Amino acid sequence: MSSTEITRETSAVMDEPREQPATDDVVLRLEDLVVEFPAGAGQIVHAVSGINLEVRRGETLGLVGESGCGKSTTGRAIMQLPRPTSGSVHFDGRDLASLSAEEVRKLRPKLQMIFQDPISSLNPRRRIPDIVGDPLVVWGRGSEKAKVVPEVLRAVGLDPDQVADRRPHQFSGGQCQRVSIARALVLEPEVLICDEPVSALDVSVQAQILNLLEDMKARYGLTLVFIAHDLGVVRNISDRVAVMYLGRICELGPTEALFDAPVHPYSRLLVSSIPSMEGAQRGEVGTGEMPSPVSPPSGCRFRTRCPLATERCASEVPEMREVAPDRFTACHHPILDTPVEASLPVAGAAPAGAGDPSTNGSAPAPADS
Ligand SMILES: Nc1ncnc2c1ncn2[C@@H]1O[C@H](COP(=O)(O)OP(=O)(O)OP(=O)(O)O)[C@@H](O)[C@H]1O
Ligand code: SF4
Ligand SMILES: [Mg+2]
Repeated sequence: MSSTEITRETSAVMDEPREQPATDDVVLRLEDLVVEFPAGAGQIVHAVSGINLEVRRGETLGLVGESGCGKSTTGRAIMQLPRPTSGSVHFDGRDLASLSAEEVRKLRPKLQMIFQDPISSLNPRRRIPDIVGDPLVVWGRGSEKAKVVPEVLRAVGLDPDQVADRRPHQFSGGQCQRVSIARALVLEPEVLICDEPVSALDVSVQAQILNLLEDMKARYGLTLVFIAHDLGVVRNISDRVAVMYLGRICELGPTEALFDAPVHPYSRLLVSSIPSMEGAQRGEVGTGEMPSPVSPPSGCRFRTRCPLATERCASEVPEMREVAPDRFTACHHPILDTPVEASLPVAGAAPAGAGDPSTNGSAPAPADS
């Protein structure tokens, strides 16, 4: 089904489109968010280590980074699934950590999540209209099912009559992802966290699902947190992008600015690999493997792979700071005013434009000894 048809069909869903809110209105604020897991023998997996991040109402915030860097854990921590080890998640101004389990449960309709594998995330024994309508029943709105479920099915491009007696195994991955999206939308969420929603789909189907998400976002005034390691997909759909490495955010900024001239060495290696390296599509860079989150490096966690690492990088954790309007990075030697085409120098030699932002990048980074 084409996105044109999908757009036309959205007109039946719910009452009126929500107004697009101002972009400086923060809907989610993560403060010093930490998620740790026990790893046996007294060890700890430092999956997410002190993330500070604001998600603006109505935006699509892309979250990228290589496998195991903590993207899904961050998404689930926003949902309080499970509750973070420490730190807070403010949703619509309320600190979810301070709420009881029941209070968090009541807010859950407003915060929904969709996953990578749509087929396994749907109950194989349930018919499609029941899968989509179940959340209404759970929330005591079962009487609305007959009206709302066909509307939301049409909105995601599925014919309610054709899917009435069908079950998930009778559908393709793309159609199942439409069902997942319908199920997430039926409660009219404010925020939709999409965890690799197109990674398992064919490229042509990916485009349809991305179009659908854009349509739904515009229609309902949704805020999207879009987790993916395919940089091309993230670039296409995101207003801003946050780059994660080993449990921390290393760069945050408007999509085009970040892709045109990344300021953090990791983002730069990631972005400059597109599309020549297959690994870049998996969010990898060609400078060895990411260290274990059980024993992350001291100071800057990227220092063991960073061509610009200095002694300071081993001893001092780089704090997130604004290096240009609306552009933030956690790096002692950010690469300023340098397009992505410019190559990175080797270890110990700072690039033109690398340095402390207070010097506007004119001072060379100290050499690593
Ligand atoms: N329940 C858990 N128990 C122990 N370790 C976990 C648990 N969940 C995640 N981890 C670990 O936390 C780290 C971050 O995992 P996470 O799934 O968030 O990464 P990711 O960025 O989503 O990776 P991918 O791109 O492969 O989905 C990994 O080292 C992972 O093994
Ligand atoms: S220059 Fe230092 S702080 Fe910046 S990414 Fe490299 S190791 Fe980290
Ligand atoms: Mg993941």
